[in-house]
Amino acid sequence: MYKKIVFPLLAICIALNSLVVNSQERVRLGTPISEADLEGFDLIAEPDGSGFPSGGGTARQGKAVYDINCAVCHGANGEGTSGNTIIVGGDMQSEGPPLRTVGSYWPYASTVFDFIRRAMPATAPKSLTNAQVYQVTAYILFMNGIIGEDTELNANTLVNIEMPNADGFVDRSHIHSIE
Ligand code: HEC
Repeated sequence: MYKKIVFPLLAICIALNSLVVNSQERVRLGTPISEADLEGFDLIAEPDGSGFPSGGGTARQGKAVYDINCAVCHGANGEGTSGNTIIVGGDMQSEGPPLRTVGSYWPYASTVFDFIRRAMPATAPKSLTNAQVYQVTAYILFMNGIIGEDTELNANTLVNIEMPNADGFVDRSHIHSIE
């Protein structure tokens, strides 16, 4: 009785084992990722000026970039086509719920550049050149009345732009989690 059960079980185990080995042989482990492939992921431009590419651009140049790549979702003048695509105007001092936009809410201009470079246009992120990102960032800041049409935006000038709501945040970075 005992042998009658063990032998079929053993046969099944051997059969299963060979299946597993075969499927392992077929696993494609791929090739190591190259430095070149990693480019485009390591994109962090910070308010301290680090991480910005060379080059620059103005709002006057950025209008064409915006009209072609952004207006379809953000409206011809940044008025948006839905609640979360409004990028011009807004008010943080209103009696009712504030309308937060790049212009009214974001504390650093560098974040506008950083966000656009990595995430926009939403349908084709990272498809713009660095020059185009500078230009269209300038255009959005210009539409918000923050810089002039011919203000050159580059690694140096970007971090010196005073955003309207720069003082609207409370620094709580000194508070650590309770242990
Ligand atoms: C296909 C639609 C689409 C296109 C095209 C597009 N965007 Fe956006 N964009 C969005 C959506 C949706 C959001 C909101 C995303 C979110 O809240 O997570 C957004 C958010 C943003 C924001 C942040 C707004 C905020 O206050 O949170 C910026 C800045 C921005 N887009 C810039 C651009 C620029 C510049 C272009 C053109 C180069 C562009 N977008 C093209 C859909 C689009």
